[in-house]
Amino acid sequence: MNAKHPKDSKTTMTDLVLPSETNPLNNLFGGELLARMDRAASIAARRHSRRIVVTASVNHVAFNRAVPVGSVVTLEAKVSRAFKSSMEIYLDVWIEDRESGERSKANEAIYTFVAVDETGRPVSVPEILPETEQEQKRFDGALRRKQLSLVLAGKMKAEEATELKALFE
Ligand SMILES: CC(C)(COP(=O)(O)OP(=O)(O)OC[C@H]1O[C@@H](n2cnc3c(N)ncnc32)[C@H](O)[C@@H]1OP(=O)(O)O)[C@@H](O)C(=O)NCCC(=O)NCCS
Repeated sequence: MNAKHPKDSKTTMTDLVLPSETNPLNNLFGGELLARMDRAASIAARRHSRRIVVTASVNHVAFNRAVPVGSVVTLEAKVSRAFKSSMEIYLDVWIEDRESGERSKANEAIYTFVAVDETGRPVSVPEILPETEQEQKRFDGALRRKQLSLVLAGKMKAEEATELKALFE
C-alpha cells in the first residue's frame, strides 16, 4: 500500500447556521457541530483508506467560541496519523466574517475512525507522511492520544500506555 500525505484526505465543508440548528442563545447547537464534524472526518478517513470507515471515538472537542445563527462555517478535516486500521482525524472549524470575508478559528476536534471490510472487521490502511510543521506536530502527538483514548475506553491498561508514562518520567 502506497503511503499518502495528509493533504490527500483534506475535506472542506462550508455551510450556514440556520435557526433550527441553534440553542436558546441563538448559537450553533453543539450536537449539530459534532454531526457536521463526524461527516467531514468520515469523508477524510474514506479518502485516506478508500474503505468503509466507522467512528471509533471522539477523542477531543473544544467548543472555544460560540457560532452565531447566520454564520458561514467552514470545517477542514485531514488524517493526521494512520496506524494499522485506525486513523486520527484532526478538524479545524472556522467562521467567516460577513463584511471582510476574513476567517477566524472557532473550534477544533479530534476523531478516530477505523477502516473495516463489508463484515465490519478492521482492515489495514496506508501509512501517512506528514509534510508541514503543523502536520508533523499533530502526527507526533497522535500515538499519545490513541493510548489515552484506549485507556479511557478500558481497552488498554494504563501501565501499557508508554507514551503517557513518558510524559511523567
Ligand atoms: C471501531 C471498531 C471497528 C473497533 O473494533 P475492535 O473489535 O475494537 O477492533 P480492534 O481491537 O482490532 O481495534 C481496531 C483499531 O481501532 C482502534 N480503536 C478501537 N477502539 C478505540 C478507541 N476507543 N480509541 C482509539 N482507537 C480505538 C484500535 O486501537 C485498533 O487500531 P489499530 O488497528 O490501528 O492498531 C468496533 O468497535 C466498532 O465497529 N464499533 C462501532 C462503530 C460504529 O458503529 N460507530 C458509529 C457509532 S454511532
